[in-house]
Amino acid sequence: MDLSHVIEAARAASSKAYAPYSNFRVGAAILTGSGAVHAGCNVENASYGLAICAERNAAARMVAGAVNPDDRKIQLVAVVSPDAAPCFPCGACRQVLHEFGCEEVVVLDASGDLERYPFQAILPYAFGPEDL
Ligand code: THU
Repeated sequence: MDLSHVIEAARAASSKAYAPYSNFRVGAAILTGSGAVHAGCNVENASYGLAICAERNAAARMVAGAVNPDDRKIQLVAVVSPDAAPCFPCGACRQVLHEFGCEEVVVLDASGDLERYPFQAILPYAFGPEDL
């Protein structure tokens, strides 16, 4: 599958990052089961602990923006940062991505090449909706 449009959506989102405190910009793009793409960037705050990561922002946009409310299954998430390569989702974001059945994480290595990871490889033994 050609993922270039998903990577490009993540890259474009990273350019919108609001990160005046860390200067660490991140963009994430979620590809859903239907092929929809929802992107987000990190948004920081003067109260540092309130920063929201790009991945969780993208997940929130997916939920709020889905044309079909059932289209919330995350096929994959691409994460791009101009400030780090590769840039993996943090632990909190892994948990949120798992909530929506994320199957794969795609990051870029230092050469700009795709690295693809099954979600299970980055969050083994996850706790999720299926456990309740
Ligand atoms: N950040 C993300 O948006 N996603 C990640 O995967 C790692 C960290 C943000 C949070 C904060 O705004 C900045 O990067 C530095 O931690």
